[in-house]
Amino acid sequence: MNDKRCLPAPCGRPSIVPSVLSADFTCLKKSMRGLERSAGWVQLDVMDGHFVPNLSFGPHVAESLRAATPLALDAHLMVERPDLFIKPFAGAGVSLITVHEEARADIGACLEKIRSLGLRSGLALRPKTPLSRALKYLKKLDLLLLMTVEPGFGGQDFMSGLLPKIAAARRAIDEVGRPVWLQVDGGINARTALSAAEAGADSLVMGSAVFSSSDPADFVRRLSRRLYSRYQCS
Ligand code: DX5
Repeated sequence: MNDKRCLPAPCGRPSIVPSVLSADFTCLKKSMRGLERSAGWVQLDVMDGHFVPNLSFGPHVAESLRAATPLALDAHLMVERPDLFIKPFAGAGVSLITVHEEARADIGACLEKIRSLGLRSGLALRPKTPLSRALKYLKKLDLLLLMTVEPGFGGQDFMSGLLPKIAAARRAIDEVGRPVWLQVDGGINARTALSAAEAGADSLVMGSAVFSSSDPADFVRRLSRRLYSRYQCS
C-alpha cells in the first residue's frame, strides 16, 4: 500500500502542495477532501509573530490535520527559534520540517535534529536572502524552499524577479546530484506555477489559488494534469 504519509521522492515532475493557511478552518477535514488524489502533500505555515508579522498555529493543529488527511504534512517554520519546535511537530506526526536560514538558531544542528527524528529536512530562504547562504547545506537537505513573497501572509503577488534565483537553485541541486525538492512558496497560481516550473521548481506551494477555488481538489487535479503533460518523471 502506498503510504501517503511518506514524502514522495522528487522525480522531475512538479507536485502541488496546498497550504492550509488559506483553508476554511471551520471545516478543515472537508477542506482536505479529495486532495489526496492529486496533491503531493500538505503544508502548514507556522508563524510566531516575531520572525514574521503574523500568528498562525501550533503542533495541536498539525495533530488534528494528521487525523483529517492521509497526505504527508510539511511544517514550514517561520519562527525565530525553530530548535524549540522540531520535537513538538515531529510528535504531532509531520513528515517534513523546514526551517529558515535567517532564524536565530544553529541551522546545521536543526537539520541534523530533524533527520535524527526520522523526518525529511528542509531549508527556506526569504526573497532577499542570497542563494549562496543555502549551498553549504545542500548535502543535509531533502528540500530547498525559496520564498517568492515576503513570508507572513497568503494572497500576495508572485515576485517574478526571483525566477533567475530559482533557475540557479535548480542548477546547484542538479550539480549536487542528490534527490532534493526545489520548492517555491508565495503567489503561486495557475499561471505563475508554469513559469516557476519552467525555471526548475518541482514543488509548488499554493494557498489562496487552491482554497479560493470552488472545488480545491478539482483545481489541483486539473493543474497537475497540465504540469504532467509538460514534465515526465525521470
Ligand atoms: C506565506 C506562506 C505561504 C502562503 C501561500 O508566508 O508561507 O505558504 O500561505 O499563500 P498564497 O499561495 O496565497 O500566496
